[in-house]
Amino acid sequence: MKRFGVSLEDDLLEKLDGLVAAHAFPNRSQAIRFLIRKYLKEEQWKSNREVTGCLVLVYDHHKSGLQNKLTSIQHDYHSLVICSQHVHLDHDNCMETITLKGKATELQELADKLIAVKGIIHGELVMSVLQ
Ligand code: NI
Repeated sequence: MKRFGVSLEDDLLEKLDGLVAAHAFPNRSQAIRFLIRKYLKEEQWKSNREVTGCLVLVYDHHKSGLQNKLTSIQHDYHSLVICSQHVHLDHDNCMETITLKGKATELQELADKLIAVKGIIHGELVMSVLQ
């Protein structure tokens, strides 16, 4: 572990301290390490590396054509889809969890298309890169 000094403007330092408090980091160093790793991870995604991902979709299955549309889009990207799980949350709502593997940009493209389908209540993609 190496130490180095960092100069920051007052307002930026205030924002850093806000982040330390919000994430309950033990100190500023831990927050800076977190931010550097987060940045590097995002850069790797941008450089189109192979990633794994999980897309969560919540929707009302009564919306006409919605489920067919979701299936059809997934078939267009079948090489990215490892598996999907469907849970009936209550009388109306369903949650679909789709496990994905492929290039980050392709996963994002598929997720954007699925989340944009009319009737989707909530959609979120989480991606991870193995170091
Ligand atoms: Ni269902």
